Amino acid sequence: MHKSVLLDETIKSLNIDPNKIYIDATLGYAGHSREVLKRIDKGLLIAFDQDKQAIRYSQKELDKLKKPFQIVHSNFSNLNNELNRLKIDKVAGIMFDLGVSSPQLDEGSRGFSYHSDAKLDMRMNQEDKLTAYEVVNNYEEKDLVRIFLDYGEERYAKSIAKNIVLARKKKPISRTLELVEIIKSSVPQKYKRESHPAQKVFQAIRIEVNRELEILEQSLKDAISRLEIGGRISVITFHSLEDKICKKVFKELSQIDEIVKGLPNIPKQYLPVLKLIGKYKPSLKELEENNRSRSAKLRVAEKIREKE
Ligand SMILES: C[S@@+](CC[C@H](N)C(=O)[O-])C[C@H]1O[C@@H](n2cnc3c(N)ncnc32)[C@H](O)[C@@H]1O
Repeated sequence: MHKSVLLDETIKSLNIDPNKIYIDATLGYAGHSREVLKRIDKGLLIAFDQDKQAIRYSQKELDKLKKPFQIVHSNFSNLNNELNRLKIDKVAGIMFDLGVSSPQLDEGSRGFSYHSDAKLDMRMNQEDKLTAYEVVNNYEEKDLVRIFLDYGEERYAKSIAKNIVLARKKKPISRTLELVEIIKSSVPQKYKRESHPAQKVFQAIRIEVNRELEILEQSLKDAISRLEIGGRISVITFHSLEDKICKKVFKELSQIDEIVKGLPNIPKQYLPVLKLIGKYKPSLKELEENNRSRSAKLRVAEKIREKE
């Protein structure tokens, strides 16, 4: 089952008011949502997920609490449209717990894992068209190199992409473990011992299939635009690429624009929208209990002004 990461820190960071509206952009197995919902009375929890399997489980879990909530089966990049549809303008807090859940990784059939054999899939939303099979078998070699470098920071991107293209000329690569073998044969023996040799390439393909980084910056900005003044945004990231995007958005919106720095009267539209609250890492206890938390980081900010 999924062990929630930075649970207490995230819930505390949201300063929950029982009568206000909160959004969990990444419901998953409802670990965070359950704790938010417990603290809600006349307010509302709206939880997004693009994975129907996660929603089915979490709907039942949250029903047990008999508190007001609504689950939206959608990518969080549709936050604005979905909130318009629900006739909701501002909310008091939004959280993101990015990436995949343990059940998604563990269930062999989803094709996320380099440990178990499955069809190359990796879609979080089973209704999406692009699969890992499509990326591995139909992307041009140069695009594979770009993805492995940009989304996996994979040192051996070029030789892995070259060997994928050679292998697929003989027959399509359709299983996760076939891909793992190709990766293993493309990297030096020594590299194989540092971490699993397929880890970075699998991460890169997953990010490409689910457009994880492409949508993140705009989604965070949309989320911030929906916060009321005093509302909090809390974002848990699991790798440096996600964290870099979150840090950039928070920095951009929490600083006074360089052009007007030092002016006696700063025009309103240049004043910061966010105040940074903090950056948190898992405690030693959590690191011992949950290996998945080792790369997690939580960033929290508070809205202090509406963007003009
Ligand atoms: C790390 S898990 C969340 C776990 C959850 N906080 C818990 O404690 O149970 C991330 C979840 O977000 C979903 N997800 C990831 N990116 C998404 C996106 N862009 N839109 C909607 N859901 C997304 C995944 O399907 C997955 O279920």
